[in-house]
Amino acid sequence: MAAFYSEELVNEVISANDIVDIVSGYVRLKRSGSSFMGCCPFHREKTPSFHVSADKQLYHCFGCGAGGSVIQFIMNAEGLDFPDALRFLADRAGIRMPEDTGGGRDDERYKRKQKIYEMNKDAARFFRECLLSSQGKTAQDYLTKRKLSGKTIAAFGLGFAPSGWDNLLKHLQKKGYDRALMVEAGLCIMNDKGHVYDRFRERVMFPIFDVRSNIVGFTGRILSGDAAKYMNSPESIVFDKGKNLYALNLAKKSSRGYYILVEGNMDVISLHQAEINCAVAACGTAFTRDQAKLIAKSPVYLCFDSDGAGQKALERAAEIFKEFDTKLRVITMANAKDPDEFIKKYGVEEFEELIKKAKTLTEHRMDVLLSGVDLNDTAQKIEMLSNASKLFADIPSAVEREVYVARLSAKTGISIESINSEIRKSNAKKVRKEVSSQLRQAVGQASAEKKAVGRRHTAEAGFLCMLCESAKVFSEYGKKFDAESFSNDIHKEVFAHICTYYKENKSGQCRDYLMKEMQGHEKELSNILMSVQNVSDSLRAADDFAQIMENEIWNEKLQKAQNEGNLQLISELLKEKKQKG
Ligand code: UTP
Ligand code: MN
Repeated sequence: MAAFYSEELVNEVISANDIVDIVSGYVRLKRSGSSFMGCCPFHREKTPSFHVSADKQLYHCFGCGAGGSVIQFIMNAEGLDFPDALRFLADRAGIRMPEDTGGGRDDERYKRKQKIYEMNKDAARFFRECLLSSQGKTAQDYLTKRKLSGKTIAAFGLGFAPSGWDNLLKHLQKKGYDRALMVEAGLCIMNDKGHVYDRFRERVMFPIFDVRSNIVGFTGRILSGDAAKYMNSPESIVFDKGKNLYALNLAKKSSRGYYILVEGNMDVISLHQAEINCAVAACGTAFTRDQAKLIAKSPVYLCFDSDGAGQKALERAAEIFKEFDTKLRVITMANAKDPDEFIKKYGVEEFEELIKKAKTLTEHRMDVLLSGVDLNDTAQKIEMLSNASKLFADIPSAVEREVYVARLSAKTGISIESINSEIRKSNAKKVRKEVSSQLRQAVGQASAEKKAVGRRHTAEAGFLCMLCESAKVFSEYGKKFDAESFSNDIHKEVFAHICTYYKENKSGQCRDYLMKEMQGHEKELSNILMSVQNVSDSLRAADDFAQIMENEIWNEKLQKAQNEGNLQLISELLKEKKQKG
């Protein structure tokens, strides 16, 4: 949601949330004059250097430099971005945000959402009371058996939905909520006959919070028996499963500076209980791009179940994070199926060790490739080498690649030279595939164009696109053609601008320079600049495109010579071709 917030709104929110009030919820403050002091929540300290001014409505820490208005405080303390912090404080003060009041329908929607949050909170309180009452005995025993402390149970708001069809329904009715809303929020189900009953019965209840700590749904675990182990609330106007991560509201406040992504909510809770408070899970769904986006800016440690499904899910997640360039690490657990079990068996310190020893994705994949391979079996060894070189060919940094090559060589006894030559082979194959698929696509699109023209045109666009990629490509291939080698005016002009950009050391990105210089031709230009995407080796791709261009230029010359019946030229052209091989 790209929203612009007026100065008035921001000021209204700031003045409706007294900073001393808000900070007191996080820090024990002591008065000194008109200001207050305490220990900074954003860095470790024993002597208070954190100041809050009631007059100025500002805070500042003289230890770590953190400071600002109540909005920056909430951004820091809750790990929210500006709009979310603003909304957090607006909701708290009962101020409507512009997107809540965009007319009758939106206003109605906003009210319904607020009502559902409130109802969910009441439901969570009800489940908690049931857990603590005598009817929650078995559930309490279950949680004790799973080694959850009272503090953890409270922190995660765990509860118990007793057996029976209408316990929650009756409770919520007494509180004044109507059935339609209970059904809409997924707390209750309406059957074909219009009969409404509780969705969750005889289950340990886990509230699901959004980043602003609203309860958006529940997941309920059976205590025994063979019904579905976990049951989740359906999606609703407040709950979008693919955009939510379990415990992200807590993990955002962690000072660890990274996230641990696990599969189950019990794993999350176990880790948090062990003070590894940066764990999150995509419970109840396959991991999505939207979920990745929520955490992708920080390093992410993937700690998935040890079984085949878990390892598959890990590869899937890694693939999703690729787009965000997230720093990934992989935690693998021996002799435990998931983090929850691992911590119970081996303790927290051992898990901290696993974090320290976490592998890069390539290391992990290399381990997987090597596991179970009999290095004395030549066929297996060759296959492993071919797979490993495909893996290494994907690493853009030469230095990094070298490290892995050395490691593989040490592990297997295969020489570094052999591995490198294998990588070159996979690399060449890959780029050829990329280039030819690019060409196929473009030629397919340009069905009206003559094939040869389309081919040349596409190769030129690809070549120009690669020149923009880096100075290195330009220094290698920039002199291979002159502007006249290109088949149309736009290409000629783009090429000329690229030359100027590099030769005169223009500032900024080459792409931006071209956009500026070629105003009015944005469409054609973006077409060129977007013509090649995700190429792993731009030098090699440039080389391939250049070869195609040369071929097409030669073909054209030959065609012309044939049309003119110029035998002399034909023989020269053929000779030229022969020399080049
Ligand atoms: P697991 O089966 O690995 O559960 O499912 P777990 O976390 O180890 O659970 P415990 O330890 O037996 O209690 C991983 C996650 O997949 C979702 C849940 O979010 C669960 O945490 N799941 C699993 C469901 O949504 N429904 C199910 O029936 C099972
Ligand atoms: Mn488990």
